[in-house]
Amino acid sequence: MSNMSTTTVQIPFLDLVTPHKELEEELLSTLRDTLGTAGFVGGPKVEEFERDFAKFCGAAHCVGVASGTDAVRFALTAAGVKPGDIVVTVPHTFIATTEAISQAGARPDFVDIDERTYCMDPRKLEEYLEQHCSVDANTGKLIHRKLQAPVTAVVPVHIYGQTADMDPILDLAHKYNLVVIEDACQAHGAEYFSKKSNAWRKAGSIGHAAAFSFYPGKNLGACGEAGAVTTDNEAMARTMRMIRDHGQAQKYYHQIEGYNGRLDALQAGFLSTKLRHLANWNRQRQDAAKRYDQALAGIAGVVAPVCPDSARSVYHLYVIRVSDRDALQKHLAKAGIGTGIHYPVPLHLQEAYRHFNYRTGSFPVCERVASEILSLPMYPQLRIDQIQSVVREVAAFLSPLRATPKAEQVQPVAL
Ligand SMILES: Cc1ncc(COP(=O)(O)O)c(C=O)c1O
Repeated sequence: MSNMSTTTVQIPFLDLVTPHKELEEELLSTLRDTLGTAGFVGGPKVEEFERDFAKFCGAAHCVGVASGTDAVRFALTAAGVKPGDIVVTVPHTFIATTEAISQAGARPDFVDIDERTYCMDPRKLEEYLEQHCSVDANTGKLIHRKLQAPVTAVVPVHIYGQTADMDPILDLAHKYNLVVIEDACQAHGAEYFSKKSNAWRKAGSIGHAAAFSFYPGKNLGACGEAGAVTTDNEAMARTMRMIRDHGQAQKYYHQIEGYNGRLDALQAGFLSTKLRHLANWNRQRQDAAKRYDQALAGIAGVVAPVCPDSARSVYHLYVIRVSDRDALQKHLAKAGIGTGIHYPVPLHLQEAYRHFNYRTGSFPVCERVASEILSLPMYPQLRIDQIQSVVREVAAFLSPLRATPKAEQVQPVAL
């Protein structure tokens, strides 16, 4: 026994072992099958997964690639984004979003986020396009006046598993002839109610194309690195199939220079197995989120996630906000509860982007949010008693003089 430890619970931030134990036999049979055929790259396993994932997203095509970063990059290139273009995204995302923009040869630029949803604020995008850009009378291109470069694409990020407000973003894109690539790397199965089409649309079927990551910790994760692009645009899908495979549609006949960015067959096989469980896992995450919501509602000082009526989040992360975030994180760590911060430093303030000369205050909503967010444990197998323990510790930290919330505040949710 440790002499000083007061730890009563051990709740990891993420449990990746349990789901793999549960699926061990199926995953091993995929491995055996792949070893038996030596079909390691391309082939029927990749095609099957692409078919199934396109169907899951409600998109016509899916192109499996090596990572989510490649997915964003290949989608931008296939959509016609050229070196020297500006691509607008948000500073509140993982750096892979902007890395992919830069790798496509473009310059990332930012608009601030909506304080409630943490996704791109369409009003800020409108302001950016209307106040900082103008249409060149000769070329018809939208030019950023200060940067003297064409703005050609927007990458809204469906952060934490919740879709950005896509209707107004698509309207603006249509008005200014911009490509929209959804960064759906955290949003497998998330839905958005589009008033324009009066229907619920899955992430991956809303923009011109969408990028997914299957990094192991995602809602749909490979047992290694993997990603995919979904699109309804056949020409884009064809181009991306070439780009991921050294620019060839036929072996050794290279129409363009491409990349080695293929999805390997073993990962595709693992993903097909896991895809069959994704809808259920997402429901389990949504149930856990409801339980968190109900229990946290009684605790002053906590801002719980806001899911507007137009979105059905799949809670890749369950992110709260508190003013003394770092102290709360330490308190939870002492109690054996794992947490994360997604993300502590907004992209415009990262050392890597110092040359762009943004400064503190450039995107105030994102900066405020980044200093207050804390991601609580969230995964399909998270148990009610674990949620109770997390909430009890959050309450103990925020209102130590008051009685901690009773366990019965975390009720099973009526499903
Ligand atoms: C929002 C976002 N975009 C892009 C990526 C890149 O995905 P990958 O790590 O598969 O390259 C990630 C992965 O963490 C992500 O969260």
